[in-house]
Amino acid sequence: MTSSTGAAQGAPEGVPPRPAGATSAGRALLDEARRLAPEAVALRRALHRGPEQGLDLPATQRLVLEALGGLGLEIRTGRALSSVTAVLTGADDGPAILLRADMDALPVTEDTGLPFASRTSGLMHACGHDAHTAMLVGAARLLAGRRDTLAGHVVFMFQPGEEGEHGARHMIEEGVLEASGTRADAAFALHVHPNLPAGAVRLRAGPQMAASDRFRIVVRGRGGHASAPHTTCDPVPVACETVLALQTMVTRSLAADDSAVLSVTRLAAGTATGVIPDTAELGGTLRTLTEPTRGRLHEALARVAQGVAAAHGATAEVTVEPGYPVTVNDAAFTGLVLRAAADALGPEAVAPLPAPQMTAEDFSYVLRAVPGALAFLGACPPGKAPHEAPSLHSARLDLDEDVITTGIACEAAVALAFLSGHAPEDAR
Ligand code: NI
Repeated sequence: MTSSTGAAQGAPEGVPPRPAGATSAGRALLDEARRLAPEAVALRRALHRGPEQGLDLPATQRLVLEALGGLGLEIRTGRALSSVTAVLTGADDGPAILLRADMDALPVTEDTGLPFASRTSGLMHACGHDAHTAMLVGAARLLAGRRDTLAGHVVFMFQPGEEGEHGARHMIEEGVLEASGTRADAAFALHVHPNLPAGAVRLRAGPQMAASDRFRIVVRGRGGHASAPHTTCDPVPVACETVLALQTMVTRSLAADDSAVLSVTRLAAGTATGVIPDTAELGGTLRTLTEPTRGRLHEALARVAQGVAAAHGATAEVTVEPGYPVTVNDAAFTGLVLRAAADALGPEAVAPLPAPQMTAEDFSYVLRAVPGALAFLGACPPGKAPHEAPSLHSARLDLDEDVITTGIACEAAVALAFLSGHAPEDAR
């Protein structure tokens, strides 16, 4: 943790301490981010010590409101959830860009041994949302300091309930996209990633992350004595056959360049070894990268499960619970992010993400309404190779806190580039 530029010393593809390729305006931005970093790191640690889960995060909201105090932002809090929306209005008229951080933690018991580890048993910031919140407060501070040169608005969206609670959708319903008085013209978010080199910015045009839906299948047969299966309609082999048929369905119904993941993660049936049960239950997740494929596989899932069951004289009841949509990055905005981030951080820090990840994000709701992008920010902890660092959602998740500087600079650079219509070099 000796570098203060967002580089992990010794990381295989680490960013050099002073990015040689950054523009002078970009370097100035990074220097400013570096000055703001200690305060942001302190906020991140305070959030990390006191994680909260779901849509109601009162202590987290209080810390964010305190940290934003005195910046001259127009601040609103949520009605149905403990969100914070802060609007920075520049000296001149112009477009509006929304920057988002999520603030919620996960039901995980922390096992890092860090001095600022969670003090709440069973809750942990295991997805890095504490870092996102701290970076966005830092970006707000940086951009507020440049208000006189800004043309347009920056909307800072601090959302609860990213982890499965559709917090972004609730905030959209409460008007976050129109917070500046006009509809946001673009939106941007960062997500830290411990399995990418510290300081690396990675995003791609098109799908960045998957849609994630849950499904449940109840196979109904007719139970009886285990010694006489011919007198029953045994749902257990039907359930087993269904698992295999679903895997075949995915590989046989999608083109090779389309992707989906279907994982059956739960199988439950029976109460005793001598009894054939009446029902067997399956549950799992379906991840897809386009809405048409998503819709097609929902239909196919029901058809296959019901067809397999019917073949054996049983029935299958299929329920699909829609989760988050596909996170789709706008191509033109992705280009702007790649350029702005390279100007601020140096071109070696920035590269297109080669393939989408099958995880999901509720920032997808924002990107469905407004062109924009989500980028991964590499945060592999010092002394670890990216592939061996504990992943997001792990009880041992650790991040390189130097990337908080990188994140502040990147968010500010993207906002400035968008509002000026230029790269940061030209904006000054
Ligand atoms: Ni997350």
